[in-house]
Amino acid sequence: MTSLVKRFPRNFAWGVATASYQIEGAVNEDGRGASIWDIFSHTPGKILHGDTGDIACDHYHRMREDVNLMSQLGISHYRFSISWPRIFPMGYGQKNSRGLDFYDQLTDQLLQENIEPLVTLYHWDLPQALQEKGGWINRDTAFYFRDYAATVFDKLGDRVHNWITHNEPWVSTVAGHIQGHHAPGLKQPKVARKVAHHLLLSHGLAVEAYRDMDKGRIGITLNLHPVYPASSREEDLTAQRLHDAFHNTWFLEPVFKGTYPDDLDEILPLDDEFIAEGDLNLIQQPLDFLGVNYYAPHRVRWNPEEISHASLVILPEEPITSMGWPVDAKGLTNLLSRIHQDYGPIPIVITENGAAYEDVVEDGQIHDALRQHYLEMHWDALANSIEQGVPVQGYYVWSFLDNFEWALGYSKRFGIVYVDYLTQQRIVKDSGLAYSRFLREFYEYHHV
Ligand code: FCB
Repeated sequence: MTSLVKRFPRNFAWGVATASYQIEGAVNEDGRGASIWDIFSHTPGKILHGDTGDIACDHYHRMREDVNLMSQLGISHYRFSISWPRIFPMGYGQKNSRGLDFYDQLTDQLLQENIEPLVTLYHWDLPQALQEKGGWINRDTAFYFRDYAATVFDKLGDRVHNWITHNEPWVSTVAGHIQGHHAPGLKQPKVARKVAHHLLLSHGLAVEAYRDMDKGRIGITLNLHPVYPASSREEDLTAQRLHDAFHNTWFLEPVFKGTYPDDLDEILPLDDEFIAEGDLNLIQQPLDFLGVNYYAPHRVRWNPEEISHASLVILPEEPITSMGWPVDAKGLTNLLSRIHQDYGPIPIVITENGAAYEDVVEDGQIHDALRQHYLEMHWDALANSIEQGVPVQGYYVWSFLDNFEWALGYSKRFGIVYVDYLTQQRIVKDSGLAYSRFLREFYEYHHV
């Protein structure tokens, strides 16, 4: 590992990531309003085993111990998200100061333990009251988001200097409004372009508000995939082109170039009456970094039944995680060079990377060798990117804790720390211990 730590710059940010609804619990406490995930997870049949985020990791009550554990492991950066309905129970209007206090205390606790916060404003938990007004189909939501963001900047901006507007707007759009397996559970492909546009507009509005208020760094996090064709047949190459438009350039192009990709129109026709003058300029504002969530590449075969005219292919010899996602660390290097080439130079932060595996507790330990291997391979792949000149500035493991994995409930564990949901006991997995050793070597080598 010593040789690996040398390949990262001294100021590289090593962290872990979580999201509010996935860990906090305490859904009815201190004036929090309902989010679309409360409603969705309580709708029978939506979440595996009927799981909900009502209690989750009970992090709301265990915040200090959790931060302390992070610091014991030597983790120096923490990405968390803010629950909008804790701050504005109705989405806008009456502000709930008790909700803000929680994040205020979390921030102080982190700084006390020398952990640098990276704050995501939207990790999918829209206030239900706004959903009732149309949610992201309604343009007003973008403006409510700006006001919520400004409230949070105002409260935490003196101590938090790194912000992410949205986490994976592709997932909010597609899983939430086309596939229906995420909240709000709609299956209406016709609204997807509008929803995506409003999410992006809200990003632009929040960036603009931030520039007016503060001098820190702000970006957006996208889930991106290298897309490989399953064969060199013409139709698989078309599948590759359309799938890339659907998964990657739908969001990359407007954010970095102020346009939507033409290829996307072939699969999701654009009725652009919802794009007002000036919107794309707002969306295309200069960012301080791009957050990239990387888990797996997509290998695609032509299939006109699918929205992107492509279905995913897994090669028989490919190792997969318990999500069924292929393990391909080289995919990360490929993805980053593509982003750098097409949209750079832009500093990049890997805001999520990690793997779910079936963990077994043996004598109070979790020997998750596969997860550890997954992580180490991706650190190596990242070092390759840095050596190729891609300005990668940070890396956050998904996730610090096992947590509520959306439609799959508690069945999938991504943590480097195990959570026993019956007792709320935390057990550091072997992968967490390995990360901790790696970080100590990094600090020693760089005299941090
Ligand atoms: C990402 C999400 C994160 C988590 C991981 C596994 O898409 O941002 O909340 O669910 O996948």
